Amino acid sequence: MRDVIVAANWKMHTTPADAGELARIIDTRTREPGVTRVICPPFVCLASVRDALADAGSDAAVGAQTVHHELAGAYTGEISAPMLEGLATWVIIGHSERRRDAGETDELIGRKLARAVMAGLRPILCVGEQLEERESGDAVDVVARQLRGALAAVDAAAATDARLVIAYEPVWAIGTGRNATGADAAAMADAIRTALGDLGWRDAAADVPILYGGSVTSANIGEFLAEPSIDGALVGGASLKPDELAGIVARAGLTARARGLGA
Ligand code: 13P
Repeated sequence: MRDVIVAANWKMHTTPADAGELARIIDTRTREPGVTRVICPPFVCLASVRDALADAGSDAAVGAQTVHHELAGAYTGEISAPMLEGLATWVIIGHSERRRDAGETDELIGRKLARAVMAGLRPILCVGEQLEERESGDAVDVVARQLRGALAAVDAAAATDARLVIAYEPVWAIGTGRNATGADAAAMADAIRTALGDLGWRDAAADVPILYGGSVTSANIGEFLAEPSIDGALVGGASLKPDELAGIVARAGLTARARGLGA
């Protein structure tokens, strides 16, 4: 049975001075048997979040929000996957804000993914269409193309061993308060599994957890988790609010119990 995962993407929020305390509060408010929790703070806050969770005896994991595609070298300002050892065990790859602001292409995202897998990080690969692409009926083709581009250079067995997670985040739903419907997200999750099968990733197609992301709140999480093909959420804005995240993880706990996880 696939994991039920709630991942918090804090984006460019929090400081080393306050991130640990926020992580501690979130940890105490979101302990749900069977739900895998991941907190992804900015790089400079990884150590304080790691320490706060360790002090609390938490099983919540720490993730980074990106990694560089090379191991080391003259790349001013960048962080490579091996540098995260001891700091993070997960990493978000190919978030639409990085595609938009850092010019990340599917090919580059694939190289980052390969580095993450080699470093033993559990990757969350983000895919999702723009509003015009959804309105023109091209959403499935766009997401399938993103998957083909990102996974072309990645070894299917290695990615399966790394327990790859895919997050479907329609760009028009991110930070807008306008979420996809549960039915649309589920249809895309099915399309993602079909695309993985077409790529020859047949085992992964059934086993890969698929998260929905885009204006997830405690009020709408139930709509997504009612869909058997959706395995959790990648949460932005609401993940900085302990009350909101507590509601989201509590709902995920129902799904985890229904799947027999955490017993
Ligand atoms: P919001 O939940 O703020 O819409 O952000 C979603 C997201 O981008 C998570 O990675």
